[in-house]
Amino acid sequence: MNYRHSFHAGNFADVHKHVALLALLHAMQRKDRGLLYLDTHAGAGAYDLASAATHKGAEARAGILRLAAHTPLRALELRDYLRVVQDWQQRRGERHSYPGSPVIAARTLRPQDRALCCELSPRECRALERALAGARRVRVECGDGYQRLRSSLPAPERRSLLLIDPPYETPATEWDQARRALELALTRQANAVAALWYPIKDEHGSRAAQRLEREFGVPATRLELWLYPRDARIGLNGSGLLIVQPPHHFQERATEWQRELWSILDTSGRGGNGVHGTAASSPSGAAASTGAAGAAAGTRHHAGA
Ligand SMILES: C[S@@+](CC[C@H](N)C(=O)[O-])C[C@H]1O[C@@H](n2cnc3c(N)ncnc32)[C@H](O)[C@@H]1O
Repeated sequence: MNYRHSFHAGNFADVHKHVALLALLHAMQRKDRGLLYLDTHAGAGAYDLASAATHKGAEARAGILRLAAHTPLRALELRDYLRVVQDWQQRRGERHSYPGSPVIAARTLRPQDRALCCELSPRECRALERALAGARRVRVECGDGYQRLRSSLPAPERRSLLLIDPPYETPATEWDQARRALELALTRQANAVAALWYPIKDEHGSRAAQRLEREFGVPATRLELWLYPRDARIGLNGSGLLIVQPPHHFQERATEWQRELWSILDTSGRGGNGVHGTAASSPSGAAASTGAAGAAAGTRHHAGA
């Protein structure tokens, strides 16, 4: 496994994913009952955007650094996210530190919640243990997140939020693993909420996510935000999230905050954003979608500025 998340820390895809993660946690926390947050691919937990390991935050310039320089932010979800990032930096006394998904979740847990964060790479896992040192109700497991998922569900809390964030070094295998993980999660815990991140490098990722969305027959939302034409040969053109069984109103709210996030991050006007799904609270089901019809399989997109 060669993947190192540090190269990408704080980039536009991290921001997209982490805003969504925090919004999901907050939405689920509207109910008092505790929840299990399960991060199958946790990464190192925190990243130094001034270090050589992150190329001095090169990718973050078009992500967290661009967002943080933008005021005012309208959407509550964007403000909440920025507050968590800045609180973390203040607490560490390191204004270049960027928190990954396990740290963002750990800092959001209530006394009745707990988290299980899994990381396969021993080196990343040691860093994760350091980043989460002292965090309460959080367990770090150095090992395969999919195996841990199998042994952790159903959660005694009877509510769980899964983040599945694979590196897609071998995309076909990883899509298959993610599909099986979602199937298992829904079998073991029928009300599980799950977010699967996927890259948009061409339409393949989006189509694979649509197939999964249909396969399980449960409400789902796909959020997609891209900064380059979806088929450009740049590398990562966009960020996608398939969210299975999102909480009420999540899709409608995501339409708002994602549109604002895209308008801030897409400075070249070559990208777009789209929300597609069957999880809207309105009777039409897809009322959260906005913009002109897009090329990708029924998703309705804003393209360009
Ligand atoms: C995209 S990064 C995770 C980033 C993190 N979720 C965040 O948002 O801050 C993917 C991570 O998954 C790890 N990984 C790959 N396969 C794994 C597996 N089967 N189980 C657990 N971790 C795995 C990689 O070492 C890498 O650190």
